Amino acid sequence: MQSKKNIVILISGRGSNMQAIVEADIQNIQIAAVLSNNAQAAGLAWAASRGIPTDSLDHKTFADRLAFDKAMMEKIDAYQPDLVVLAGFMRILTPEFCRHYEGRLINIHPSLLPSFTGLHTHERAIEAGCRIAGCTIHFATSELDCGPIIAQGAVPVLDHDTADDLAARVLEVEHRLLPQVVDDFAAGRLSIQGNRVIRTEQQHSQTPLLA
Ligand code: GRF
Repeated sequence: MQSKKNIVILISGRGSNMQAIVEADIQNIQIAAVLSNNAQAAGLAWAASRGIPTDSLDHKTFADRLAFDKAMMEKIDAYQPDLVVLAGFMRILTPEFCRHYEGRLINIHPSLLPSFTGLHTHERAIEAGCRIAGCTIHFATSELDCGPIIAQGAVPVLDHDTADDLAARVLEVEHRLLPQVVDDFAAGRLSIQGNRVIRTEQQHSQTPLLA
């Protein structure tokens, strides 16, 4: 039998995407820990109430970005993760961090990348007059909100949508897609070929993810 894949999830706030992963009850994964840069993140209390190890590190107590990332890497590595999921982790990560987890670091972003990297994606999509919006799950690289795209989900932008209306519509899709991607990763169904992620029906756990 295949051994379970260790997943570490990083959050900064509510943690609804993290909850979606936990509640999906994915067969061959173990949620090793939920970590945050914010000890007050609501998602940490939720995870702890489910018996999942949680921990936090306050980025404001570190001299610079790299010092924080190194300390976070130490915490993460203690759980020997096969996959690190950035699920609403509101920190820009250093190239050192991204390189360390290359091929096993995924991010969920609330826009149809490569449009609208960064913040306030829903406001910007409405402002730009987009008729569709959505979310993207991608392998994270040192360039913010870039990296090979694994999955995207689209929703309509309706005429009188506020940013909150659109965010809620996109969030439903996020909650469906992210657990599917984690399942695919854990089952060895994803491989990176250049900038493209290939999803195969067959497992290829012996094949390196970076081709
Ligand atoms: C989500 O919209 C995610 O795409 C973005 O931050 C939000 C986090 O929400 N990166 P939650 O903490 O998962 O509820």
